[in-house]
Amino acid sequence: MAAATDPTDTLFSAARAVQARAHAPYSRFRVGAALRDETGVVHAGCNVENAAYPVGTCAEAGAIAAMAAAGGRRIAAILVLGDGEALVTPCGACRQRIREFAGPDTPIHVAGPEGVRRTFTLDDLLPASFGPDNLA
Ligand code: THU
Repeated sequence: MAAATDPTDTLFSAARAVQARAHAPYSRFRVGAALRDETGVVHAGCNVENAAYPVGTCAEAGAIAAMAAAGGRRIAAILVLGDGEALVTPCGACRQRIREFAGPDTPIHVAGPEGVRRTFTLDDLLPASFGPDNLA
């Protein structure tokens, strides 16, 4: 019997596939993101830059939009993949985007081409955050 695929490997493969489709002609920095929703379905997104630079969107934003459009409502885990030596941790805006659909313990895997480099929790990256609960 074949070994079951590791859930993080599945996210890595999904992020790797969409990274290749990034539209990044300005930074030339391609990013892929993949997340698992509360039902186990995986959604992915890549960065999509724009000639009007600030209009460009991050890979995480694309993955979250895909999740919402498919009916997913919670992020169980997310993986972000980029090239280069430095860790591609989500930008500040994307930490807040993830916050909307995740809890403090939600894993955020940061990967390079060779695999996962570090795993953070959302609370590691966005402590004392503001979220939907603050509006209750
Ligand atoms: N980028 C992402 O897509 N996600 C991140 O977490 C960091 C940065 C993109 C935005 C831009 O298209 C390029 O990487 C360079 O900043």
